This record gives sequence, structure tokens and C-alpha cells, in this order.
Amino acid sequence: MEFSYVNTTQIHFGQGKIASISDAIPSTSKVLVIYGGGSIKKNGVYQQVESALSDHTWIEFSGVEPNPTMENLDKAVVIAKAEKVDFILAVGGGSVIDGAKYVAAAACYDGAGWDILLGKYTITKAIPIGAILTLPATGSESNSGSVITRASTQDKLPFSSPAVQPKFAVLDADAMKTLPERQLINGLVDAWVHTCEQYLTMPTGAMVQDGYAEALLKNLLTLAKQYDQYETLQWRENLMWTANQALNGLIGAGVPHDWATHMIGHELTALYGVDHARSLAIVQPSLFRNQLAVKKDKLEQMGRNVFALTEGDNLAERTIDAIEAFYHSLSVATQLTEHGDDKAAAIDKIIAQLEAHKMTKLGENKAITLTQSREILEAAVK
Ligand code: NZQ
Ligand code: ZN
Repeated sequence: MEFSYVNTTQIHFGQGKIASISDAIPSTSKVLVIYGGGSIKKNGVYQQVESALSDHTWIEFSGVEPNPTMENLDKAVVIAKAEKVDFILAVGGGSVIDGAKYVAAAACYDGAGWDILLGKYTITKAIPIGAILTLPATGSESNSGSVITRASTQDKLPFSSPAVQPKFAVLDADAMKTLPERQLINGLVDAWVHTCEQYLTMPTGAMVQDGYAEALLKNLLTLAKQYDQYETLQWRENLMWTANQALNGLIGAGVPHDWATHMIGHELTALYGVDHARSLAIVQPSLFRNQLAVKKDKLEQMGRNVFALTEGDNLAERTIDAIEAFYHSLSVATQLTEHGDDKAAAIDKIIAQLEAHKMTKLGENKAITLTQSREILEAAVK
């Protein structure tokens, strides 16, 4: 184990905490409030922001779409530069927060914002960001990552920089009241896969990271079993905090990471518009079956410690079946079912995009080449 760990985002958790942004944002700041398609106007969040910022100078940019695009966000970059914005408040789910991170960095750079995604420009500076979370799923509210799409070329790529990590995040589960069930379930699934990407690799003996990852996975299983209680504050708060902890850096410190499910899933989203979480559920079980030999020990550990499966033959295979059953219990598909009749052509397209994005050595062992990705996709189509 070797790592340097800090999470610099201050979390304001609980009902009514949106009011805390009055003090959390410097009163002299010129604030750009960034949000999505308008859900925040239907659940009272926008009104709470208005009232909390009554003594601040602020402007807004709305219309950040799910899987935010560079083309749209560049309009906000122009505004941030022209208006000399010095604080950005992101109000929404992962897409809005990721979009705000792009705007914050691109506004401090003279070249094309897409250079950030291409690695042509390394972020050195960004406008400070605060986040109000309305959809627990990605963990973006307290991490340094972001995923942006270039619509014209169907590229969906990640970047990360400590400079774009939010200074604070407000987690008030009342904001979840208007979430469609589809999005709630997406949150459960995304948090599940984030935990797996940092846990389900190879044995490391890292007791804190493994134990905490298993606690998070057990929470998500319990929340899925208690899904009929999703309108209670307790259920919502537990999902909100679990999804946050799944991708805030802690369980991933000093242990191997996988992320192959995410990289293949991103191509599915970019090409076919599959919801982020649903792309992961399509890829993950087939990926685990494909990588059984190298993931066997950790799958067995998960079978024992998370699903309480009995010892014996085929424990790793039974664990994958249990993971698949978890998705099916939420009516989430684990097969590519909706994306045109010509599945072979779809797979060819995904493989071509993986190659174009240099995603040719994925996974904790860098052993998932395009050959394995093709096998995984073929199994996910059947
Ligand atoms: O745009 P609005 O009107 O807000 O509606 C959104 C959107 O349509 C709606 N929504 C959000 N909160 C709501 C609500 N509707 C009613 N009530 C509320 N309280 O939900 C829809 C989906 O929102 P979105 O932000 O796209 O979902 P999510 O949080 O799942 O974010 C997905 C994006 O995050 C990226 C994904 O790739 C995808 O682009 N990720 C970011 C990561 C990170 N930064 O660390 C890691 C993840 O693995 C992921 O890749
Ligand atoms: Zn994810």
C-alpha cells in the first residue's frame, strides 16, 4: 500500500443545508449558477438557491444535458470569461457537476476546451466550484473527475484534476423527491459499479479498503431489497451518502483499479445514448465472466462477504450470477437489447471507437485488449 490521500470537499449533509451556500460562497464572488433541464425548478431547489444567494451577485446558465457536451458547455465558457465569473455553483446530477468542472477549467485557458480531454493541455487553474447534488450516483460532487462528450464525433472522454474538485458539496436528500425511479435505480447501479471497479480486482490484503467497499456494496444490496421504501428520508439519505463514499477516493487509495466496464460503457452511451449506469450493467457481468481467471479470488471474497454465499464449487461464478440477479431485481438489463437489429455492426462500431480512444489495454492488468472487449460485447449481446 502506498498512497497520498486527501479529500478537500467540505460536505454539508442533511435537510435544509442548501441555505449553507450563503456562507460557503465568498460574498464578494461573481457567481455563475449552472444547472440542467429544469428539474431544480420543480423541487424547490432553485428557489432555495435564489434565496440563499440574495446578497450575492450571480448569473445563470441552464440546459446542461445528460452526458454533457462540449458544444453546449463552450457557451458557458464564453459567458464565464466575458462576465469575469469567479465562482461556479453546479446544481444537479453528475452531468451538471461534470459540466461545471469543464467550464471552470476551460474558462482559465485560452485554447480549445477539448484540449483538456485530449491531454493536450494539463489543467493548472480553474474557477472554484461548489455543488448542490440532486441525484446521488456519480460521486462527482466530491471528486476531481469529469466525463465530457463531443457530440459531433461521438467521443465521450474523462479528465481529472485537483483544480476542479468542488470546494463544498451540499447533500440534502429532499432534493431527490422528484427523481424519476429510473434515475434512482441508475444511482444505485452506478455506485455499485464504482465500488466494484476499485474492489473487484486482485487480492491485496488492504483490510480498510476491502472492508469499507464491502460495507458500501452491502448497503446498496439492502437499499435494492428495501426499494419499496425509496420515498423515506432514511432510504434516500443512505443512498446519497453511500454513492458519495463509493467514489470519493477513499476505497481506491493504494489499491489496483479496473475501470474497463466504465470505458466500454462510455462508448455505448456515446454511440447509442444508453444511460450511463445502464451501459455498465450491460458490460459488467460479461466482463467478469471473461476475466474470471484473474478475478476469481476477489469474486469469491465478494461472494462470501457481500452476498453470504455458501462455500463450495463455482463460488466465483455464483457471485457473478448474484451480481446479475441484483441488476435484474431492479429491472436493469444485462444484455444489449435496444440498439438496432444489426448487433454485429454495433459491436464493430464500439470496437472502432475504443481503438480511436486508445482504450486498447484496459483493466487492472491492462489485459483487456480489443480482442477481449469484442468477446465481452459478443457475450453481452448473445
Ligand atoms: O437536467 P435536469 O432537469 O436536472 O434532469 C436530470 C437529467 O435528466 C434528472 N435529474 C437530476 N436530478 C433530479 C432529476 N430529475 C428530477 N429530480 C431531481 N432531483 O436526471 C437526469 C440525469 O441526470 P445526470 O446528471 O445525467 O445523471 P447522473 O448523475 O447519473 O450523471 C451521469 C453523468 O456522469 C458521468 C457519466 O458518464 C454521465 O455523463 N460520470 C461522472 C463521474 C465522475 N465525475 O466522477 C463518474 C461516473 O462514473 C460517470 O461516468
Ligand atoms: Zn459511473
